[in-house]
Amino acid sequence: MKEPLTIAMPKGRIFEEAAALLREAGFKLPPEFDDSRKLIIDVEEENFRFILAKPMDVPTYVEHGVADLGIAGKDVMLEEERDVYEVLDLKISQCYLAVAGLPNTKMNDVAPKIATKYPNVASTYFREQGEQVEIIKLNGSIELAPLIGLADRIVDIVSTGRTLVENGLVEYEQIVDITSRLIVNPVSYRMKDKRISELVEKIADVLKQKATV
Ligand code: PRP
Repeated sequence: MKEPLTIAMPKGRIFEEAAALLREAGFKLPPEFDDSRKLIIDVEEENFRFILAKPMDVPTYVEHGVADLGIAGKDVMLEEERDVYEVLDLKISQCYLAVAGLPNTKMNDVAPKIATKYPNVASTYFREQGEQVEIIKLNGSIELAPLIGLADRIVDIVSTGRTLVENGLVEYEQIVDITSRLIVNPVSYRMKDKRISELVEKIADVLKQKATV
């Protein structure tokens, strides 16, 4: 049997939609795929090897070539520029990056503090706005920062908006729309071009059908 195609999947909230999309594209993924604790899942029928990674790490596996392909949020791609090809906008896990904070508050005049999981995106954004800010990198529960005085504002993902509302925060500016992308290692793209193109085409067909509904 030929070497499998290795696909890096993001664990967490994108996973379910990504798996559903692969199934819609006709790939047979076993039921245990969805609630396994395994980090490497071989699907022999399709000759796929899936690796389950933290969303922020998916491009790293693909860039280093240990995964041929991966599914990664545009947020992650913007935050860490990686040497990978972004071949398809999968239109799943739609959300956006926004600046948020406590209502009716102004940012500190001198070096306002911005808490975020996306230090590069945030510093680029505020630089473009002509604002000098201090970035505080957090790894999650970003909404906590303005509530307890760690930061004036946050830059974070807004999906349903529930987290902001339930924590009494408001959105000040939207930065960029986000969806998940199919990314490919450039060497794999050349060496396994036939198999990768087939997979890309099957997914692209599903996306086209969805777009016309
Ligand atoms: C993300 C994001 C927001 C929340 C937004 O966090 O950082 O906190 O989801 O979703 P909502 O608009 O639907 O409420 P996630 O749950 O991924 O966990 P995290 O706090 O570890 O970043």
